[in-house]
Amino acid sequence: MTSFKKSLLAGITSEIPPKKEYDPRINHAPKRKDILNTAEKKLALKNALRYFPKKHHKILATEFAYELNEYGRIYMYRFRPDYEMKARSIEDYPGKSLQAKAIMLMIQNNLDYTVAQHPHELITYGGNGGVFQNWAQYLLCMQYLSNMTDEQTLVVYSGHPMGLFPSHKYAPRVVVTNGMMIPNYSKSDDWEKFNALGVTQFGQMTAGSYMYIGPQGIVHGTTITILNAGRKISDNGLAGKLFLTAGLGGMSGAQPKAGNIAGCITVVAEVNPKATIMRHTQGWVDEVIEDLDKLSNRVKKAKENKEVVSIAYQGNIVEVWEKFLEEDIYVDLGSDQTSLHNPWAGGYYPVGLSLAESNEMMANKPEEFKIKIKETLRRHAEAINKHTSKGTYFFDYGNAFLLEASRSGADVMSKDGIHFKYPSYVQDIMGPMCFDYGLGPFRWVCASGKKKDLEKTDKIACKVLEKLKLNSPKEIQQQMSDNIRWIKSANDNQLVVGSQARILYADSIGRIEIAKAFNEAIKEGTIGPIILGRDHHDVSGTDSPYRETSNIYDGSSFTADMAIHNVIGDSFRGATWVSIHNGGGVGWGEVINGGFGMLIDGSEESDNKIHSMIHWDVNNGIARRSWARNKEAIFAIKKEMKRTPELKVTLPNLVDDKIIDDLI
Ligand SMILES: NC(=O)c1ccc[n+]([C@@H]2O[C@H](COP(=O)([O-])OP(=O)(O)OC[C@H]3O[C@@H](n4cnc5c(N)ncnc54)[C@H](O)[C@@H]3O)[C@@H](O)[C@H]2O)c1
Repeated sequence: MTSFKKSLLAGITSEIPPKKEYDPRINHAPKRKDILNTAEKKLALKNALRYFPKKHHKILATEFAYELNEYGRIYMYRFRPDYEMKARSIEDYPGKSLQAKAIMLMIQNNLDYTVAQHPHELITYGGNGGVFQNWAQYLLCMQYLSNMTDEQTLVVYSGHPMGLFPSHKYAPRVVVTNGMMIPNYSKSDDWEKFNALGVTQFGQMTAGSYMYIGPQGIVHGTTITILNAGRKISDNGLAGKLFLTAGLGGMSGAQPKAGNIAGCITVVAEVNPKATIMRHTQGWVDEVIEDLDKLSNRVKKAKENKEVVSIAYQGNIVEVWEKFLEEDIYVDLGSDQTSLHNPWAGGYYPVGLSLAESNEMMANKPEEFKIKIKETLRRHAEAINKHTSKGTYFFDYGNAFLLEASRSGADVMSKDGIHFKYPSYVQDIMGPMCFDYGLGPFRWVCASGKKKDLEKTDKIACKVLEKLKLNSPKEIQQQMSDNIRWIKSANDNQLVVGSQARILYADSIGRIEIAKAFNEAIKEGTIGPIILGRDHHDVSGTDSPYRETSNIYDGSSFTADMAIHNVIGDSFRGATWVSIHNGGGVGWGEVINGGFGMLIDGSEESDNKIHSMIHWDVNNGIARRSWARNKEAIFAIKKEMKRTPELKVTLPNLVDDKIIDDLI
């Protein structure tokens, strides 16, 4: 047996490993707020120590108390494994359940150093998107997965493996909840407090659900967004047009790559040099400029030559918006992808302070830091307003920019005082053009880890979509073309970071037919097993009034029934694992979102699961969107009811507004 397998099977060993030094070369999570009182700190220590035998408590208590004081959390750094953290081929994992092995592969991918934002703190992306709260949870979870059978289900509470429970082979192997709180305890300080106590975590979307595939996952969606934003401002394509935005982190790092694919000039500001260097060395951004004058000259030249180029500005985004005003550089498209879902704990950096000064203030003077953030947001919005008055098309990128700017008193509300001045990308683009038709971020991972398998799956998927396009309604012809173009060039765009994964927007029929074709190829032995999944940022998985469901206008955007139904429905229709989260994208307390993973192995059982689960996973959301009177969704669900006689969805009757307006 390999030493890797032995380590996984061992879990938390009776003898503790040697202490590990804090490695300054790694991108670490910022120090979290010192929020616990003395009694709560004692409780946090007691909570952490319950993972270990008594004989180690004294030594570990001292160490954990240091971590809590120094970093604001107990990560249990000592227990970080020594083996390389990366997704291996499914055969390299120990155990009795192929499904459990698939889950281990995905967990390791989420913690891979080339994938994860703060790998030592078990954070995959978004500054606080955790896979586990600490290394003890990781070790235990991997041990359970290495030992479980297909007659058991592992139950995970915010990273903590509660244990294995008897179930049956059609049940999910893992059920995950992240950050599920009693609703009144869902303010951002509640996350700080209960996470510091070690009883909950912010799972983001695909972090705590083991479905992150690096920024590729988002490049496709971002490309679709930029392309369609471009179509909103001009019929002549994006050549020579400027897209200005911020963030080169986990998801935001996809922007320059997507900008290149869409064919424009992209300028992305990033305050953290580690993030800039990572994206630059990965080839996701072409050039790095640290000086505002140089940046302006470079952009002017790129405009003149209609270059397709992406440029990182090493510094604060507010400086760029203001400088481009001074220099009279016209911004065609504008957005922002700083992590404003997490404004007070490192998601958004104030202008005028260095990164180190900000981090210091955030931890030691949180109230002063809040004031700085609010000032910056007001300045940020003011500069954007000046640009939009000249014609810039600005959209909120689902990072809670407008929400937090409005809460900071920035001038971002429209005259009615209810809506924002600017649309979110879901309201204008993704909602009506994609989600309402069921088109969303379907993805798969080749469990063999072979590049060749990925290339074969790309070809299979492309063939399926090309065939489906022939009979697709005119309403989604453009989307089908964009998606076919995407999958054709996906390999050349070298999007893989970590596991051999691919994202491809597809609707319900597309996802089912592609998955079925994969299953057939597995059966024939052409490719190895495949793990299917999707981003939570999708048609049905997420209730989020400022993002995924921002184009729901019947008042129900503040309810979360769809996401809950989705995960329950997926769990009994064949998912290998399911997860449901509070927070993710726009922030703790602002969204409920869920996802799934499904291993397919070429069997008839896999075929049945594909049909049963994916159909529900997409059509649940279309039904809800249609009930909210979204005309694209009404069209899509009616079409699906014709195709599937067992599907019977309640349709809305549309009222003539005049009847109501005459009354009230
Ligand atoms: N890409 C998408 O399609 C998509 C969709 C919806 C939402 N989002 C949202 O976008 C946000 C970003 O996600 P992420 O995973 O990239 O987060 P991240 O934290 O990994 O990256 C954000 C980056 O912004 C930088 N930053 C913060 N303040 C800055 C400032 N003032 N100027 C310049 N840079 C600054 C940070 O240093 C960080 O590297 C999140 O809120 C996420 O929910 C993204």
